[in-house]
Amino acid sequence: MAKQNKLRIGFIGCGDIAGLQMSRFADRDDTQLVAFADVDHDTLDKRQASHPQSAVYADYRQMLRKENLDAVSICTPNRFHAAPAIAALRAGCHVLCEKPMAMTLSEAKRMYRAAHDSGHSLVIGFQYRLDPRTQYLRRLFEEDAFGKILFGRVQALRRRGIPNWGDFGRKAMSGGGPLIDIGVHALEMAHYTMGSPQPVSASADMFTYLGNRPSGDIASLWPDWDYRTHDVEDLAIGRVRFDNGAIMHIEAAYAAHIPKRSLMNFQLMGERGGATWEPCVFHTDESGHMVDKTPAWLGATDFNSVFLSKVDAFVDHLLYGAPCAAPASDGVMVQAMLNALYDSAARNGKEVAIRPLL
Ligand SMILES: NC(=O)c1ccc[n+]([C@@H]2O[C@H](COP(=O)([O-])OP(=O)(O)OC[C@H]3O[C@@H](n4cnc5c(N)ncnc54)[C@H](O)[C@@H]3O)[C@@H](O)[C@H]2O)c1
Repeated sequence: MAKQNKLRIGFIGCGDIAGLQMSRFADRDDTQLVAFADVDHDTLDKRQASHPQSAVYADYRQMLRKENLDAVSICTPNRFHAAPAIAALRAGCHVLCEKPMAMTLSEAKRMYRAAHDSGHSLVIGFQYRLDPRTQYLRRLFEEDAFGKILFGRVQALRRRGIPNWGDFGRKAMSGGGPLIDIGVHALEMAHYTMGSPQPVSASADMFTYLGNRPSGDIASLWPDWDYRTHDVEDLAIGRVRFDNGAIMHIEAAYAAHIPKRSLMNFQLMGERGGATWEPCVFHTDESGHMVDKTPAWLGATDFNSVFLSKVDAFVDHLLYGAPCAAPASDGVMVQAMLNALYDSAARNGKEVAIRPLL
């Protein structure tokens, strides 16, 4: 499908995570890094120094008009996912959009519709579903090894990890704090493993108690965050109900007093089997005994390997007909859960209904 031999790739937002994606696109011999757009000139200079053959633009709309791109990766702060994704789709590009899909459900739905109307692919950057642990457990789900899944417990917790860069502490730019930033990963991979059931309601409580204070002598991995603009939650505790009767419990924090420096995990409990993602174990009954099954070999599960595999999955989908790893419809469903959890917290934990989505 490439308009030339190689898939012509553009980037909108060229900060940290874009750099990691670019390294994979640059390594592949079937993709070409054609152009980068960012509002920050120093960032563009840095990217062009590494990729001198790529054009740079301060305005992504100009890039979309001029460069005849096949695909665009959106790596801007969450607030700027929807508009460039929609513009790129309308310009005839396929889109890989970093997580979370958007800040709000209405943005996510507009993005979904733009993809549908354009006939182009909109893929959400949910790399954790490609992690071999997730793939193994999802396969067990497909083989009905869990029986009916009743409960999922989802955790994305940092003991002290309030980002001191970017816009992660500003609700107007990010849509929220750890729930939408890191909780989205754990939530979406657990939901995917459960077979992506339709959410019907959510409730949550959220607490801000540390990020809004001067970091002073508070120990942190990343000190000196901007406490004056920090208006997101430090800790979110939520619950989602699904139409198949299953319940998910989610904990997400930038600052939780836990034994580990950080924790990303989920557990599932079904009528016939259960599982823990890390360490990856399937718990069930066999031959009249309770057994725990641990895969002897899973493949690489480190962050970079899993992250880069989503670039491969995107290209394989566009060029070689591989199924879409994370379709926009899944992004909309995840966004609906995130937004209902935030809505509930704003209403003192009242349960909020989630209507059928698309
Ligand atoms: N999948 C993952 O594991 C993962 C990890 C980190 C970040 N992310 C996501 O990636 C996105 C970017 O995060 P980051 O850590 O790279 O942030 P970052 O701050 O390092 O980079 C964002 C870049 O976008 C640019 N930008 C801002 N507004 C723009 C606009 N309107 N047009 C063009 N460029 C614009 C900024 O100048 C900056 O260079 C976020 O949505 C974040 O949630 C995903």
